[in-house]
Amino acid sequence: MHYKRRRLLLAGASLAASGTGLVRMPAFAQAGPLLRKMIPSSREEIPVIGLGTARRYENAAGAQREALERFGALGASVIDTAPVYGQAEAVVGELLEQLKLRPQLFLATKVSISGREAGVQQIEQSFKQLRTGKVDLIAVHNLRDTQVHLGTLRELKNQGRIRYAGITTSFDRQYGQFEETMRRQALDFIQVDYALDNRGADERILPLAADRGMGVMINLPFGRGRLFDAVRGKPLPPWASEFDCRSWPQFFLKYIVSHPAVTCAVPGMARPEYVEDNLGAARGRLPDPAMRRRMERFIDGI
Ligand SMILES: NC(=O)c1ccc[n+]([C@@H]2O[C@H](COP(=O)([O-])OP(=O)(O)OC[C@H]3O[C@@H](n4cnc5c(N)ncnc54)[C@H](OP(=O)(O)O)[C@@H]3O)[C@@H](O)[C@H]2O)c1
Repeated sequence: MHYKRRRLLLAGASLAASGTGLVRMPAFAQAGPLLRKMIPSSREEIPVIGLGTARRYENAAGAQREALERFGALGASVIDTAPVYGQAEAVVGELLEQLKLRPQLFLATKVSISGREAGVQQIEQSFKQLRTGKVDLIAVHNLRDTQVHLGTLRELKNQGRIRYAGITTSFDRQYGQFEETMRRQALDFIQVDYALDNRGADERILPLAADRGMGVMINLPFGRGRLFDAVRGKPLPPWASEFDCRSWPQFFLKYIVSHPAVTCAVPGMARPEYVEDNLGAARGRLPDPAMRRRMERFIDGI
């Protein structure tokens, strides 16, 4: 079946709620295309699981090539990077060129420096490192010189060099300023930390993003691995199968991407087996609100 048609069928199927209150997916979904969500400002759909490149892509010394190859083969597309993640932009740029993956990808990077001119130079360097003429999303990293860089990002959008602009944080202490920026600025995307054991963004930031029509990319979905430590040695609860969850990583990621305001999550993954496992969270049923409460009670009780 034509790829786009399959996607449309799946998107339609994913909206049909079942009698149990769980979102039902067709039986072929396990082997089929990835679940996608819409970016509010454009109505473009992107897969709900992407890939983060902090720390593990700082240099190409491991299995990053195989991880990206698998990522592409499974039909995924969102990659999040930043100019301050060591050599990550250059590593990703080189591997994507070798693997000829750029056309299917949604590339997101950041501007992570103070000052207008310095920001412009850093962005130009990102285009070079990523070996592309068009970056899908650039976000102001951790609110660093936000007003100044949002002006630059708007110009780049007008020139057609980027498609979306946004802001990021992963610090509770920045949430107030983050919300303020969301209220004042027209942003395509926000990126914020959110995880089953770190749900602060759910209080005001995620509802505000929904109100303001902003796409939401979630960073630190495993709390940099903290969640794996919490469940080490513990079996998955049997009710995880009710939302087609086969592993702890899928448990944590399905919780995130089932939030109605969340567009996608970008777990850090530099190993092909992680990619395979994590992208399983973009298949099958997702937990409904009652199941999400059960997952919260479960983790809070550990
Ligand atoms: N303010 C910002 O803009 C900001 C801040 C933070 C992060 N981010 C973005 O968010 C992304 C994600 O954050 P993160 O990578 O620091 O933390 P994370 O996604 O919460 O955790 C990543 C770690 O989880 C482990 N992991 C991943 N998949 C696994 C699997 N299937 N099975 C077992 N372990 C698995 C890996 O540990 P090992 O590699 O050690 O095995 C990996 O390094 C970053 O890469 C970055 O793109 C943005």
